[in-house]
Amino acid sequence: MLVTAGPTREPIDEVRFLGNRSSGRMGIEIAREAARRGHPTTLLLGPVGDAAGLDAFGVTVHRFETAESLRQLLDSLSPYADLVVMAAAVADYRPVTRHAGKLRREGKPITLDLEPVPDLLAEVAGRRPTGQRIVGFALEPAERLDESARAKLVRKGIDAIVANPLETLDAAGIRGRLIHADGRVEMPSDDSEVVDKSRFAGWLLDRLEVLPSRER
Ligand code: CTP
Repeated sequence: MLVTAGPTREPIDEVRFLGNRSSGRMGIEIAREAARRGHPTTLLLGPVGDAAGLDAFGVTVHRFETAESLRQLLDSLSPYADLVVMAAAVADYRPVTRHAGKLRREGKPITLDLEPVPDLLAEVAGRRPTGQRIVGFALEPAERLDESARAKLVRKGIDAIVANPLETLDAAGIRGRLIHADGRVEMPSDDSEVVDKSRFAGWLLDRLEVLPSRER
């Protein structure tokens, strides 16, 4: 099982970056629970979170900073996974150039040129080996959670997606639901209930262990 977690950091200069508030907690809990159940598990973890103690569970951890470094790890590791869970909050845009040294204060507005980051999840799905199952995460405004998440699942060509509202980012709990490629929606007991991320990981793993594979 291959799990990604945490934010990316896209450098502006040698001291600053564009990032996001992801804590990596959800992906870390999923990797911990998978390893605890005996699945050989690798976690690709961004520059946050505490990987200490994951060794004891048998999780292999590789760290990344930029979307490009995550992309390279996925290129080499994803072909060997039976199940890929992309919980990382990957940048959608990054600065075109990284300024040497430190950008100086000149007291007037400046403009950063940004370029799109490739959709890593769609890339992994595009080269999946037969039988590999791929699960994404979708961070969405609560009012159109299912609809947007379902559109992402189809666009990225994956098997299931965990839809979670924006307030899940950086929080201890999650109000998530699992949307399947066949349209089924599953949620922990009560739709409005915020579930601790470690408990959600157990609930999710119960479902991912029996997720049907999309044979091609
Ligand atoms: N993702 C990715 N590569 C990116 C951006 C996102 O692989 N460059 C993955 C995330 O890991 C997550 C899924 O795509 O599993 C959805 O991420 P999200 O930020 O919700 O969606 P986006 O595709 O970025 O679309 P938008 O920002 O418009 O909501």
